[in-house]
Order: sequence, then C-alpha cells, then structure tokens
Amino acid sequence: MLNIGIIGFGRMGQKFCKELLVSPMWNVTHICDPSPEARRTAAKMVPDALITFDEDVIFADPSVDVVGLFALADSRPEQISKGLAAGKHLLLEKPVAETIEAEWDVVRMVESSDRMVAVNMFNRSAWYHKVIMDFIREGQIGELAIVRICHMTPGHMPQEGHGPEGPAFHDCGMHYVDAARMYAGSEYKTFHAQGIRMWSHTDPWWVQVHGTFDNGVVFDITQGFVYGHMAEQQTHNCYVDIIGTKGIARMTHDFKNATVELHGTGRTEKIVKEFGDKKIDVLVDVFARSIIAGRNLGFPQVRDSVVASEMAWRMLDDAVANGSPCIGRVEDMDEIMTRRRTLSNGYSLPVWKILDEKTDKR
Ligand SMILES: NC(=O)c1ccc[n+]([C@@H]2O[C@H](COP(=O)([O-])OP(=O)(O)OC[C@H]3O[C@@H](n4cnc5c(N)ncnc54)[C@H](O)[C@@H]3O)[C@@H](O)[C@H]2O)c1
Repeated sequence: MLNIGIIGFGRMGQKFCKELLVSPMWNVTHICDPSPEARRTAAKMVPDALITFDEDVIFADPSVDVVGLFALADSRPEQISKGLAAGKHLLLEKPVAETIEAEWDVVRMVESSDRMVAVNMFNRSAWYHKVIMDFIREGQIGELAIVRICHMTPGHMPQEGHGPEGPAFHDCGMHYVDAARMYAGSEYKTFHAQGIRMWSHTDPWWVQVHGTFDNGVVFDITQGFVYGHMAEQQTHNCYVDIIGTKGIARMTHDFKNATVELHGTGRTEKIVKEFGDKKIDVLVDVFARSIIAGRNLGFPQVRDSVVASEMAWRMLDDAVANGSPCIGRVEDMDEIMTRRRTLSNGYSLPVWKILDEKTDKR
C-alpha cells in the first residue's frame, strides 16, 4: 500500500479521499486544510489519519509516499516545489498554477524530477473517449475531420470559490479544450471565440470557440454554466460529436450513464455504461500501479494539462476581445445564488459550510 497525505479537503479533496479509502492500494495517513470545518469532516471520514492545518507536517514525514494537492491553483506551485524537494510523488488537481508562466515553471520542475506527477484531467481517464478513439483508430469513420464538444449545465456560478481558476471556460472548459486536442492528436493552430456576459457579470460565463488544428482537423467547443439555473426542473446538454470522412461517433451523458453511439463503415453499436463522475477511481488505480511499476501506465501528465490551460485562457481572452455582450441583470445572478444555497440536488453545488467559514459570511 502507498501512504498518501491530502492537502485541500473541499469538494475534490473529499472525492479523492472517498476513492482512496475504498482502494486496496492506498492508505490515507494525513489530511491538511486551513478550514476547521474541513478538518472536522476529515476527522470523521478518516479517524486514523493525522489531521492538520500545517502542510509541512506532511512534506516532512518520510512515511508519506504521495501527496495529493487538491486546494486551489494559487497554492499549488509552492506545494509542488516542496513535495518534489521532499521526494514525494504528487497527485494534482488542475490547473497546476494560477498563471500561464507559473504553470510552465511547474512543467519544468516536474519534468526535471524523477518523481511521478499525475493531474486530474478526467477526460483522459474516461472509458467513453477510449472507446471512441479506438473506433477512430480502427478506421471506422474514415479520416477524422471534425471534433465537436459541448458542456452546458446550470453549474458553478461566479463568486462560488475557484477565483484563481478563472471564469467557467477556463475553470471547467480547459477539460474540453484538452479533450478536443486529445481526439485531434495535434496542436491548436487557429481559433475564434464568442462569449456572453450573462447576468451582467464581469466575465463571460458561456463561450463558444471554433478553429483548426495543425493537422487540418477542425473543432468547435461550447462551454457554459448558464443552462437554465432557474428552471423548475434543471437539465444539461453535454456531448461529444466526432465526424469523419465516412462515419461518425458520438457520446452523450446524464451524469449517471454515458451513451456512446458508433456509426462506422463496418460496425454500428450503442454502448450505455456508468458515467463515472470524475473517474477518480480510474486515476488513483493507474497512478498507484505506475508508482509500483516505476513507469507511467497511462495517467494524465502535467504538460497536457498546461497546454489545455494556456489554450483555454487564450480562447477566453479572444472571447473578451471579440466583445462579449451583456445580457441579464446582477439581480438575476443573486436570485440564482440564493436558489443554489437551498438546493440539495443540483449541479456542482459548493461546499457552503466550508466556503462560509473561509469568507466569514455565516
Ligand atoms: N478535475 C476536475 O474535474 C475538477 C473539478 C472540480 C474542481 N477541480 C479543481 O480542484 C481544486 C479544488 O476545487 P474544490 O471544488 O474542491 O474547491 P473547494 O473550495 O471546495 O475546496 C478547496 C479546499 O482547499 C482548502 N484550502 C485553501 N487553501 C489551502 C491551502 N493553502 N492548503 C490547504 N488547503 C487549502 C480550502 O479550505 C478548501 O477546503 C481546484 O483547483 C479546482 O480547479 C477539478
């Protein structure tokens, strides 16, 4: 078993912890968070772990093999530097830093170290993308030509934390910028982005971008957490639509199940399987096996995460430069925030108790 210390015990830290606790390969030995409420939750969830507000306790403990860095992007570079200096393998949330420059510094740090460092770019752990990419490799759709990705939900609102991660198109959209590049197997060449500043918020909270890759594949990506927040019954619209010269493959999901439809020249198939949330079970499994094997058996790498993050920032900047119109009022946003505070079943609801304590709004 590998001993892991967790730093940052909000929504993602807790999700990682749950998966680590059920895995036979991991032993959660430490949990660190500045929030007393988060530490109380940690103590309940892992009574045997050492719970602390001091991250250095984890870096200094020689029994810790791996450190999980699940706080926000602004604290990550220093924690990565401390972790590598202490000889720890690292399991990171994205983005790995707050600015593009700091992210590339992290790439250099990680790539000049002999430690293993994985990033939770969850699309790279998703069974449905693997099925579709195998189908493309089989030649079933002819030549890959068009990659279309959409992720719209009534999700994360402005002011709900994740300040350093930026607006929705960077915070969440970088996953889909990564997925399009993964399908194309090429680097971004040209793009044009359009955004909209919903509810008179300063930043665009919906962005659509289209463009080309170096190999001629074209793409469009739509991302927005603006999809019917006040609807009586909330819903979402998420898909991947892959078009080749001869066939197509697509995926939709309802957050419980994912449905893959394959329409190739020699094979037609529909596969419905569990969506698997953030695929953390897959990530912690492949990361543990990689550390034991001494080589990367398929976990997502820092460089890919940073390319996606940089492109997402640049696309967002383009949406702003192209004039993102302003629709709706600040009062609409307040109304949505008030509703989200009372919802118990919704999309990416914040861990309010912890946030309240941090911002002293209770
Ligand atoms: N890969 C994904 O799909 C995905 C999804 C959601 C969030 N994220 C990323 O995960 C990270 C955490 O997001 P979240 O939703 O869990 O946020 P959160 O606000 O729920 O939790 C963050 C936690 O970190 C703690 N914290 C803040 N500064 C700290 C520090 N210096 N040291 C230790 N703990 C500290 C906070 O007290 C809080 O408990 C973000 O970077 C976000 O971008 C990734």
